[in-house]
Amino acid sequence: MPGNVVLCVCGGGSGAHALAGLATQKGVEVRVLTLFEGEAKKWSRAVQKEEMTVVINENNRPPREVMSKPKMITKDPEEAIPDSDVIIFTVPASVHEMYFKAIAEHIGKRALIVGLPGQAGFEFQCRDILGEKASLISVMSFESLPWECRVREFGKRVEILGTKIYLTGSLIRGKSVTKPPLMTLQKFLGSQPILRQSKHFLETIIMSYSFIHPVIFYGKWKDWDGKKVNEAPLFYQGIDEPTTELLQKCSDECTAVAAAILEAAPTKANLSDVKDIHHWYMENYKNEIAEASDLFHSITTNKAYEGLKHPMEESESGMVPDFSTRYLTEDIPMGMVVLRGLAEVMGVSVPIHDMLIEWGQEKMGKEYLVDGKLTGKDIESTRCPQRYGFLSLDAILTGEKSN
Ligand code: NAI
Repeated sequence: MPGNVVLCVCGGGSGAHALAGLATQKGVEVRVLTLFEGEAKKWSRAVQKEEMTVVINENNRPPREVMSKPKMITKDPEEAIPDSDVIIFTVPASVHEMYFKAIAEHIGKRALIVGLPGQAGFEFQCRDILGEKASLISVMSFESLPWECRVREFGKRVEILGTKIYLTGSLIRGKSVTKPPLMTLQKFLGSQPILRQSKHFLETIIMSYSFIHPVIFYGKWKDWDGKKVNEAPLFYQGIDEPTTELLQKCSDECTAVAAAILEAAPTKANLSDVKDIHHWYMENYKNEIAEASDLFHSITTNKAYEGLKHPMEESESGMVPDFSTRYLTEDIPMGMVVLRGLAEVMGVSVPIHDMLIEWGQEKMGKEYLVDGKLTGKDIESTRCPQRYGFLSLDAILTGEKSN
């Protein structure tokens, strides 16, 4: 039992429901902080009469149900954050800034802040908003959520459809002494997924592979004539060879950035575990991939991707691709642009990233890259290091801004 640890779950979506339910059931004092209009009231009302149910689907076993009720559900950071040992963000990356700003003054100096998932640039944003406090607290950023999960009835029922085997996160340890971060989090989740720590926080950023969704989108719709289609094409399993080549080239650009950082700061940034995308697939989906000989088959024969289709906007007369999907609106500003910013600092050219960012920004009506520079009017809505004034590798590694 995690003893007297107080956990604050930030968010009110599927991930927040699953985490709050499971950790409460393990004996942790759980507080839920949701800043989304009306959610705290709705969730509190829902658990007044009856505890919340988490339905857990596990391989080859009948679904299991656990019941629990978080100790506090509130929209007030002053109520939830002081005394919280662990604060976990389980919301889309686009709302992290709102949470950081709302909780900053209330965070204790020994707290552990976790992005579950963090997505690229989580640490830069944290350092920028928390200022000096950021060097005291510990910060973890995980590559994804531990589960595939969906709220079935708000505040009452959430279903875990699948649980990852492993989940990797980075840790920047603060100056204040805290409880062992990974062990503490593992106790909240139970035995699976097995949490692993990356060797450096830049490894998690570089290996977020945030180009995957934009590349697949581009591969399918780059020559689209604007006419409505009758059905949504398969997303991952519908890729072709040219799209696979683009995925590989993006991965090569990421590993080139990692190599440049490792060469420049071999003792400060151990990026020796950064992997090429094909190796990452083989390691993370080894039980799901039927034919792993190359990248194309690792994706198209991946059982986890079966039936997943392109996000589309539907109307009576047909469908069009949905360019407002998180696959673009999050993965470009909170992913590809961050990698592009690292590349710029290291002087590594990443032409395929540039081409995709330029294509995506036009589709979304945004502007990040202008004439090959990260100076577009929407750069403030990204998490690239330049936005925060981290303009050298040293500034990126230490969090101390360049003059
Ligand atoms: P969700 O879509 O269920 O979360 C929505 C919640 O985010 C809302 O209920 C609200 O609490 C908050 N939110 C959204 N917009 C807001 C706004 N403008 N202001 C304030 N709060 C706002 O997301 P979910 O499923 O919990 O996922 C969290 C993160 O994990 C996302 O980045 C998602 O892409 C990722 N993820 C989710 C998986 C899943 O199976 N649910 C699987 C893998 C990753």
